[in-house]
Amino acid sequence: MALVRVREHVNPLSRKYQNPVAMPDWGQVYGNASQPLHLDIGCARGKFVLEMAQREPNWNFLGLEIREPLVHQALASRDALGLQNLHYLFCNINTSICPLLASLEPRTLSRISIQFPDPWFKRKHQKRRVVQPEIVDQLSKYLISGGTVFVQSDVLDVAQEMVDRFSEHPAFSRQHSDWLPNNPFEVPTEREVGVLSLNNPVYRAVFQKHGGNV
Ligand SMILES: C[S@@+](CC[C@H](N)C(=O)[O-])C[C@H]1O[C@@H](n2cnc3c(N)ncnc32)[C@H](O)[C@@H]1O
Repeated sequence: MALVRVREHVNPLSRKYQNPVAMPDWGQVYGNASQPLHLDIGCARGKFVLEMAQREPNWNFLGLEIREPLVHQALASRDALGLQNLHYLFCNINTSICPLLASLEPRTLSRISIQFPDPWFKRKHQKRRVVQPEIVDQLSKYLISGGTVFVQSDVLDVAQEMVDRFSEHPAFSRQHSDWLPNNPFEVPTEREVGVLSLNNPVYRAVFQKHGGNV
């Protein structure tokens, strides 16, 4: 399948991306909607969840992506493989998080990954970064107790900011005090493959949710 060409970055704060998207009927989307769900935020072409869904058929996977053409192409790849435990949704997570989480089968959200989010280096652009306190708080309400959040980035400042946002929330505990040396899923994302091929460092952390949930 030829790769669809897209803009490198879109601004999630632009007016075009402020309307929450309609949520599908998850019972129609997944073969078994009551399986545990892994949410991958900012999945780009979605290769990570495509591979994970084949390795873990007893889990459902949902990739979220703001660049719509990538979502169409990822869905076509899923359909070509006939996977019933994988879906991709075009959305701006920062505006669709509440309706999305409320629409899910209760107590299925079990894992979240946020991998190499757009760094938005300029200080005035940093409010475009995906991990904001509101997102962390919403995720804390729907992730099951014992559920995990995996974050990674090759930009230390971005990785540290994600760690700070989850660490400061009372529902989450960091699982290791040091950066994790390896990706615990053993399935690298596309960005991760590129970074590792240049021998650049990757900063990774895992959090666990404790306490009650919705
Ligand atoms: C640098 S890419 C990393 C993609 C993938 N996780 C990887 O590691 O290869 C970050 C992705 O997040 C998406 N993204 C950025 N802001 C988003 C938002 N607010 N909602 C959903 N997706 C977003 C971007 O379009 C981009 O595809």
